[in-house]
Amino acid sequence: MNSAELAALLHFYADSGVGELCEDAPIDRFMQTTEALQARKRPQPQTNAPAAVVHGQQPAAASSQSARSASRKPAPQPLAPDPQASQLTVPGVAAFEQARALAASANSISELRAALDGFTGCNLRHSAKSMVFADGNPEAPVMFIGEAPGRDEDLQGAPFVGRAGQMLDRMLAAIGLDRDSAYITNMIPWRPPGNRTPAPHEIELCRPFIERHVALAAPKIVVMLGNVASKSLLNTDKGILSIRGNWMDYHVGDAPIPALPTLHPAYLLRNPAQKRFVWADLLSLQERLEALAAG
Ligand code: URA
Repeated sequence: MNSAELAALLHFYADSGVGELCEDAPIDRFMQTTEALQARKRPQPQTNAPAAVVHGQQPAAASSQSARSASRKPAPQPLAPDPQASQLTVPGVAAFEQARALAASANSISELRAALDGFTGCNLRHSAKSMVFADGNPEAPVMFIGEAPGRDEDLQGAPFVGRAGQMLDRMLAAIGLDRDSAYITNMIPWRPPGNRTPAPHEIELCRPFIERHVALAAPKIVVMLGNVASKSLLNTDKGILSIRGNWMDYHVGDAPIPALPTLHPAYLLRNPAQKRFVWADLLSLQERLEALAAG
């Protein structure tokens, strides 16, 4: 395949929603480990001759094993050194420092967006198609914070535009809000492959940016949608089902901001019976917003 055909195939996979790539045939890693351990235990031939494998031959003891493995796909070889390798592994101290410095350097929301765009320390940016920053009105009194973009958000470059986004729009509409009267973002601006939950180090890497984002937008109220945003921003181990609906203080910037953890719209799609809890949370939010508007 030439590079253009390969690129077309990869685009086809991405458009079809393939989030992760794996081998065509399964590889039995347990078998590989067992074989390697057995090979290590076998007595080594006592010879001073250079190892036969240097010349492309297998030692006799390994030949039956090699016949068996010849019918399987060869084990993946280590990749050649990758200039981006440091960005594809668990980040080091430098990545956290870069995140903090970049976030702190932003003095406006547009500067923050540019700073995030220049942040190379989070491996998620390499598998995502786009950076998903925010949607809605940054001057709105209420800011909603979700988890991370999904497939639709990654394709469109905006948060909450897929099925969960439609549910969020219905939640907003239920209390007279829309994307002109609310500001919407996520903890993580890049889609985790296969929509997996972001890893703790990914959340920590992106934390300086979301904290600066809230400080710069300075909403009167923050609503955390779901477990990831609620637990990490409110610094609690308690699950969303036990803390939802309880007003708390979110500490960022000069003064604490009233914060309301509630259930994630994607969770409601899977558990529609839980909508009654969110309805109670929304009514509580509406009451606070009306009190703020009344001064
Ligand atoms: N789920 C989220 O948490 N955020 C999105 O933007 C979409 C789905």
